[in-house]
Amino acid sequence: MGPLSAPPCTLHITWKELLLTASLLIFWNPPTTAQVRIEAQPTKVSEGKDILLLVHNLPQNVAGYIWYKGQIMDLQYYITAYAIDTEMLIFGPAYSGRETVYSNASLLIQSVNQKDAGSYTVEIIKRGEGTEGVTGHFTLYLETPKPSISSSNLNPRENKNAVALTCEPKTQGYTYMWWVNGQSLPVSPRLKQPGKIRILILPNVTRNDTGTYECEIWDRVASICSDPVTLDVLYGPDIPSIFPSRTNYRSGQNLYLYCLTDSNPPAEYTWTINGRFLQSGPRIYIPQITTKHSGLYRCSVRNSATGSECSTFKSIRVSGKWIPASLSTGF
Ligand SMILES: *[C@@H]1O[C@H](CO)[C@@H](O)[C@H](O)[C@H]1NC(C)=O
Ligand SMILES: *[C@@H]1O[C@H](CO)[C@@H](O)[C@H](O)[C@H]1NC(C)=O
Ligand SMILES: *[C@@H]1O[C@H](CO)[C@@H](O)[C@H](O)[C@H]1NC(C)=O
Repeated sequence: MGPLSAPPCTLHITWKELLLTASLLIFWNPPTTAQVRIEAQPTKVSEGKDILLLVHNLPQNVAGYIWYKGQIMDLQYYITAYAIDTEMLIFGPAYSGRETVYSNASLLIQSVNQKDAGSYTVEIIKRGEGTEGVTGHFTLYLETPKPSISSSNLNPRENKNAVALTCEPKTQGYTYMWWVNGQSLPVSPRLKQPGKIRILILPNVTRNDTGTYECEIWDRVASICSDPVTLDVLYGPDIPSIFPSRTNYRSGQNLYLYCLTDSNPPAEYTWTINGRFLQSGPRIYIPQITTKHSGLYRCSVRNSATGSECSTFKSIRVSGKWIPASLSTGF
């Protein structure tokens, strides 16, 4: 017998059969043997896949089978039944249209979803004395899929871009959690939807949002974490500073200046003196300076990724002769 494609037939016959079975059940003794064994094939199933619940150790003289969703044999949880003599299938309230019972009692569930997880009971009705039945139980767990993160942009610009990180897949019944740099996401008022959310929105990224992001999916029994993704926020350069702060020098001294900014990726540095190019790089070193090294030093910084540029000036005075320490400023 193949899987059923047609919907269950006329309802009044179905329910008549059902009530007949139910009235028989009332006179049953509780099952004494439970050697019936149920095996799932495959042993692990993820959402959307099919699973076959194989029934092993069937007793002799079987009249039919009834499958229930749950642990109790209640009509409300009746999925489907098979009567061997008539090869008749009966469907109950718990039938979703995806279950097929075979003549050997096995139950095929197609395209399983979260609602299919849980326990199943098969009731095997024996012929003969009329009051014997055996049951088998099985609990179906769905494998939680390993989540992954998709992002609108992994290299956003500070104060320019919004970033949405989405935890895939979208599944009902799961809880989503986010981890940033190994810490569970702080509930911040900056985030539009803090808490247990599948889509994390960073409305106005700053450099402080740089880091590794992971999402975790929780179902009823287990959780699984995604691989981390790195959000690399492009920012800067910030207004640079020139060190040391000293401005007055004497002829013959060495001039060493360095320029500092924060930028991602690192900034390109350019030094000029009185508007003339001096050199590239964050540091300048001029040994044995003379008065002609006096002037306006400018450090320019540029971030090629953000396209931003800015600079700072510093006036350096080199005197030709000794000046009393009390008159010098700075150092
Ligand atoms: C029962 O029937 C199904 C469908 O034909 C088959 O796949 C399965 O191997 C059979 N055997 C048992 C032990 O259920
Ligand atoms: C993003 O941040 C920048 C700098 O703090 C601010 O000027 C801008 O208005 C912010 N944009 C939004 C949409 O919040
Ligand atoms: C980043 O975090 C530091 C330390 O908490 C804070 O001082 C700074 O203002 C933050 N910067 C931005 C751009 O949000």
